[in-house]
Amino acid sequence: MTLELILVGFGNVARRFASLLDERRARLAGEHDLDIRTVGIVTRRHGHAFAARGLDAAALANRVARGGPLVASRPSGDRSASSSVDFIRDAIDRRARTAYERCLVMVETTTLNILSGEPAIAHVRAALGGGAHVVTANKGPAAFAYHALARMSHRADRRFLFEGAVMDGVPVFNLAREALPGIEVLGFRGVVNTTTNYMLNAMEQGQAFDEALVEMQAMGVAEADASLDIDGWDAAAKTAALANVLMDASLTPQRVERRGITRDLMHRAIDARRAGRRLKLVARAGYEGSKITARVAPEELPGDDLLASLDGQQNALILHTDLLGEIAIVQRSGGLTQTAYALLSDLITIARDVGTARATPQPRPRAPRGRSR
Ligand SMILES: NC(=O)c1ccc[n+]([C@@H]2O[C@H](COP(=O)([O-])OP(=O)(O)OC[C@H]3O[C@@H](n4cnc5c(N)ncnc54)[C@H](OP(=O)(O)O)[C@@H]3O)[C@@H](O)[C@H]2O)c1
Repeated sequence: MTLELILVGFGNVARRFASLLDERRARLAGEHDLDIRTVGIVTRRHGHAFAARGLDAAALANRVARGGPLVASRPSGDRSASSSVDFIRDAIDRRARTAYERCLVMVETTTLNILSGEPAIAHVRAALGGGAHVVTANKGPAAFAYHALARMSHRADRRFLFEGAVMDGVPVFNLAREALPGIEVLGFRGVVNTTTNYMLNAMEQGQAFDEALVEMQAMGVAEADASLDIDGWDAAAKTAALANVLMDASLTPQRVERRGITRDLMHRAIDARRAGRRLKLVARAGYEGSKITARVAPEELPGDDLLASLDGQQNALILHTDLLGEIAIVQRSGGLTQTAYALLSDLITIARDVGTARATPQPRPRAPRGRSR
């Protein structure tokens, strides 16, 4: 089977994804009988490219990474896109037969506007509306509009998958969807932001806040706008996405009570460490009566708490479930390759669905026992 891709956003994640596809080509063919071909790429400032016969995405990734444009000069016959949404619609029109056969996928990896969830939500709507599946590493769609987009995906019989949005490639949403049927998630707590965990870790050892932040920026781990990490917005968006998907909540990042990390936490972090405790930016959600509430804030944890054991760039999520008690998912190493793998794993899920003519499943059912959202 061949899946064709429209890449929307061609930054760090999408470029690593393009090279990973090349590296895994033989394995995808051998193990999954799957060929993946990129037909379109659109960016904000680096132009766009389309070729029905396929683009060399890995070569284009190298060119863009070196600071070049996506296309040196626009090929004749190329239609210019006035916006990324127009580009998506146009590309789907040109590959209408592939879309009809459920083999066209939009891969969304643009930068997130934390106040609105855009432009990703508009991209997802355009793709599902035209008959393309959606795979994204962007937190925006699930954090701001999960229920509307999941309903749209079900009606269109096209998948809307976002494994890379939380904890890179470690399966969180896939775990709940595929391996925990019939289980109710009653709440969760976790360390889900890498930059702040690394910084608190460095601060408890006496390193200055700004120095630790510069290290995270140099490694390309901190968000382009680092205040999204430090002020807790990234963790709040992940918390909203997790609560919406796993607990059927209707949160947005703004509705998550939020406190980030500040320079003056250094002494608290050092003192906590000396006392055998650790200061962590903890994300949590749970029921208060029938209402789901969520919070991101620095918390001092006892040394034997699993979250207290996380060093450097490690993340973890502990799900509190009705039948299995606590389930912990620990991410010991994260980064671009892991996020790129999340996109790839979602594509393999789509290929399996299409190969077995499996219809797009309903979103997780609403919570029982009269709980309201
Ligand atoms: N980096 C990670 O490790 C990681 C991990 C998990 C999830 N994520 C999420 O994955 C997404 C991508 O991250 P990244 O590190 O690859 O970001 P990035 O390097 O900043 O790349 C963002 C890309 O989106 C493009 N873009 C922005 N607005 C656009 C628009 N309106 N239309 C078309 N293209 C647009 C940019 O184009 P220009 O370059 O032309 O401006 C750029 O190609 C983000 O949502 C991020 O939160 C990242």
